[in-house]
Amino acid sequence: MRTPVIAGNWKLFKTIGEATALVNELKPLVARTRNVEIVVAPVFTALSRVFDAVAGSNINLAAQNCYWEEEGAFTGEVAPKLLKDAGCSHVIIGHSERRQYFGESDATVNRKAKAAIAAGLTAIVCVGETLAERESEKTFSIIESQIESGLEGLSAEVLANVIIAYEPVWAIGTGKTASDEQAQEVHSFIRHLLARLFGQAAADAVRILYGGSVKPDNVKGLMAKPDIDGALVGGASLKAESFAAIVNFGL
Ligand code: PGA
Repeated sequence: MRTPVIAGNWKLFKTIGEATALVNELKPLVARTRNVEIVVAPVFTALSRVFDAVAGSNINLAAQNCYWEEEGAFTGEVAPKLLKDAGCSHVIIGHSERRQYFGESDATVNRKAKAAIAAGLTAIVCVGETLAERESEKTFSIIESQIESGLEGLSAEVLANVIIAYEPVWAIGTGKTASDEQAQEVHSFIRHLLARLFGQAAADAVRILYGGSVKPDNVKGLMAKPDIDGALVGGASLKAESFAAIVNFGL
């Protein structure tokens, strides 16, 4: 009943020319895909041109970050409404690389998520534990505080505009994916937590994506788990063929 989401996070890769070439290659490979929400997240400078390239296709556009103010003297920032203006329907918020290198916290994630939703974007809110946290058995308490603080003040209705991405930091870009069972365990924990915070119906409707070294050969096993509703894909989204194979996991 939940439409799966397969989102490609292109991180700091690809010029405008490379980004448009990638979606032009991707389009025919996913043109017949039904019942999967397909999202690509290029760098800011490529958004508008990639939007032109995906117009009329089943590929949606995301930004990798946003600021929470609409406008003002905030040099270097990009407002959610400007992302809408560039053609985005989604925005990734609180990716672990932003938390690690750019000082993002659950508090900034919360402000960004609220601003993004207010601007009409779907917020892909990322959570996940580090290796040290997993090894010291803090996974669930970390996820709990990231979700509670990150989504604080949102209503059950607004949760329809939120997608959660569970990305264990130790699995990102390492080739070391969580096992299907490890991922499902955390996804189920997240859904129970969402039910406690927002009610069962709202929790049942939320898509919870797994991220961290998702590849064509491990996506099927992950997607077979009841609480895994899609994937946030880094490395394997940079080539049309491997991303399309992930998008078409069900074929
Ligand atoms: P990866 O990245 O697929 O390269 O591990 C995932 C992510 O960072 O979203």
